[in-house]
Amino acid sequence: MRIYEIITKKKRGEALSGEEIRAVITGFASGEIPDYQISALLMAIYFRGMNAEETAALTMAMVDSGERVDLTPIKEKDTYPEKIITVDKHSTGGVGDKTTLAVVPIVAACGVPIAKMSGRGLGHTGGTIDKLEAIPGFRTNLSGAKFMDIVKNIGLCIAGQSANLAPADKGLYALRDVTATVDSIPLIAASIMSKKIAAGADAILLDVKTGSGAFMKNLEDARKLAQTMVEIGNNCGRKTAALITDMSAPLGYAIGNSLELLEVAELLSGKLNESTISKNLLELCVELSANMLVLAEKGSLDECRILAKEAISSGKALQKLAEMVEAQGGDRSYIENSMKLNEKHTYAVEIPSPQNGYITVSDTEGIGLTAMSLGAGRTRPEDKIDHSAGIILNFTSNSYVEKGQTLAYFYTSARLLAVQATEQFLSSLTFSNNPVELPPLIYEHIF
Ligand code: URA
Repeated sequence: MRIYEIITKKKRGEALSGEEIRAVITGFASGEIPDYQISALLMAIYFRGMNAEETAALTMAMVDSGERVDLTPIKEKDTYPEKIITVDKHSTGGVGDKTTLAVVPIVAACGVPIAKMSGRGLGHTGGTIDKLEAIPGFRTNLSGAKFMDIVKNIGLCIAGQSANLAPADKGLYALRDVTATVDSIPLIAASIMSKKIAAGADAILLDVKTGSGAFMKNLEDARKLAQTMVEIGNNCGRKTAALITDMSAPLGYAIGNSLELLEVAELLSGKLNESTISKNLLELCVELSANMLVLAEKGSLDECRILAKEAISSGKALQKLAEMVEAQGGDRSYIENSMKLNEKHTYAVEIPSPQNGYITVSDTEGIGLTAMSLGAGRTRPEDKIDHSAGIILNFTSNSYVEKGQTLAYFYTSARLLAVQATEQFLSSLTFSNNPVELPPLIYEHIF
């Protein structure tokens, strides 16, 4: 069938067959179908949507455009005596979302191997790979063999995503990015799930965020995205579940690469009741870890929550993170003596409150953009980031602050950047006469 007819069919709102979808992806990958026709089809999909069968067919066509990671070698008997179910995790991204850095070592410390591929940050959300690269020597660009060796030897590894995983998605995303078709639920779902399925884990936990700092600004869209991805995963033989979680405020206190890693190292150091540990961050890390352990058949949700908390309080998760850093060429003393992660910035600038009131974040994306403008993020993939730059928030939502009280510390290499970023930061906050109702940390569990 000609691409012209496929575009026309979708323009009229008809469902495409699996064969048609596969022909589009194969033709796009080989260069036979030009970008302008794919762009037209993307816009037709944007307006007309895709049903569950079409979305699954698109996902699998993108998986088959590249290689699949085979994780069976890490299940070899001499490494793990019991039945092993490999589990992966994906977050749709947010401001201060450093959960992967904590959850991977927690789950690994509970005996479930994690072979994780992660991405870099772009725009107002950070990327796990950038955060890890704040450690001197840490390598994320690993060969497939090295990646597997590390997981086999120590039970966890976080590497940069291989270019061979779902390569058609990369090209398609680049077109979506310039044709205003990124925010289409079937396209997002197929994009994310194609990479997760190609990455080879038996089970997948999705953290779908909603709120002003998330991709999905409202709960209805987040729910639809979560349901679509869970259905794709389960239909493709991967046990898949999702949590819909709050991103109406930054997660934890730190925003910025080395600062977020420092926050994780403190969280994993076992002092669960310290006031410096964000309750929301701790609770979400425990819930995500517990849900991954349930997928790995380590027990009931309650039992797995206990396992996750023990991995933190015993120091085993921190030890796992340090082992991983060392195995990937990094200096593990940055985890064991984590204050080293906050030594490289040139300036620390205190931001005082302009008024009294109960403080909440009204624009989390604005806070993410503030961190970016301090040097913590990139607007284009080729931009360099300043690993030491970022923000430490000095408040929690609904706390009462007085005029002049320190709201945050900005870390940056140029004082002028801090001055320029202050207005955006303050305009992302709201001061009220009374505390306001806060959303739940976890809205829903979909499986
Ligand atoms: N993340 C992805 O990997 N793909 C999308 O389409 C959107 C977010």
